[in-house]
Amino acid sequence: MQNILVTGGAGYIGSHTLVELIESGYDVVVVDNLSNSSKESIKRVEEITGYSIKFYENDIADMVAMDKIFKENNIDAVIHFAGLKAVGESVEKPLEYYKNNISGTLNMCEVMRNNNVKNIIFSSSATVYGDPVEVPITEQTPKGICTNPYGWTKSMLEQMLTDIQKADNEWNVILLRYFNPIGAHKSGRIGEDPNGIPNNLMPYITKVATGQLERLNIFGDDYPTPDGTGVRDYIHVVDLAKGHVLSVKKLIENPGTKVYNLGTGKGYSVLEVVNNFIEASGVDVPYVIAPRRAGDIAECYADASLAKKELGWEAKFGIKEMCADSWNWQKNNPSGY
Ligand code: NAD
Ligand code: WQD
Repeated sequence: MQNILVTGGAGYIGSHTLVELIESGYDVVVVDNLSNSSKESIKRVEEITGYSIKFYENDIADMVAMDKIFKENNIDAVIHFAGLKAVGESVEKPLEYYKNNISGTLNMCEVMRNNNVKNIIFSSSATVYGDPVEVPITEQTPKGICTNPYGWTKSMLEQMLTDIQKADNEWNVILLRYFNPIGAHKSGRIGEDPNGIPNNLMPYITKVATGQLERLNIFGDDYPTPDGTGVRDYIHVVDLAKGHVLSVKKLIENPGTKVYNLGTGKGYSVLEVVNNFIEASGVDVPYVIAPRRAGDIAECYADASLAKKELGWEAKFGIKEMCADSWNWQKNNPSGY
């Protein structure tokens, strides 16, 4: 398990995972169509690691191009980040989301099978639990009704990959359900760089902190949570990246299909995140309380003990470091890459 193909490697989580893989001694090949990223992130990963990355600017749905990538490289496993991920946009453009995420993945899996590469680690999401029936959420907590097409693509792809593995036990499928990734590499050279006005909390906060946005809208303060604002399990992106390295190691055991929650196990409210950010950055974040956002849930946090037991993985960074590192990235790169 030496050569890893990282799809979507130019993106936020992909770029951080490249650093951890390279620093753990793996060889990496990247395919990304740059639909939501820039090649600059790859250059910066090279700068951090001193490693020269083989990069293919292709769509994962392009079976001819993908076949060439597998033929030119001796790939052992795929870490599959490539996909569209904006919840609101997926409601506006369901066809584009289902096509990109589902057809793209199925095409890629067919090429993988043709090339006898049957190890895949898939970026899933806590969104598959819908409005969870219990917290903390374990992997046994039933999957739920997703509130948007993006979430359904994750839920459906989990099922499809599970079925593929069930029919052919040469496959190994590791489904990683991420909670809320934030933070950035300590160097401040790579980080999250959303297009336009951010949808997610932390990139919105950092843009308020730089003065690019006037104030944060806190979506609801009447949830059944301690301070009324939504509670989430924020996880440092570098911890998340390390979870992928340990998942690659797990593949050696031929584990079949495995599902792991990657979270810290601790929930923070929107107000707690804002206050931690202000403390960590020393910069004020003006906010107003706004109406609830459609599709939001009150609380979501993980029981991540299975990943600890089976992968030896545990989140190390706390909320202060997540805030400090998000800020370090944004203040050094106010316009992103
Ligand atoms: P990102 O948008 O920064 O990275 C995704 C990358 O995939 C981008 O570089 C994009 O250009 C590329 N891409 C998209 N469609 C492609 C295609 N058809 N062919 C080739 N490349 C393509 O997103 P991210 O935050 O790094 O997320 C990575 C993965 O993790 C995604 O699958 C996302 O759904 C999943 N995920 C993200 C979060 C989160 O909050 N960031 C949470 C749970 C799951
Ligand atoms: C966090 C909290 C908001 C913005 C989303 C996806 C999920 C996963 C992670 C990919 C909530 C509040 C936010 C703002 C706010 N992604 N908020 N003002 O919704 O938990 O999860 O990203 O898989 O699928 O749904 O993350 O960062 O958008 O919101 O008050 O401007 O912050 O209401 O309580 P969410 P988020």
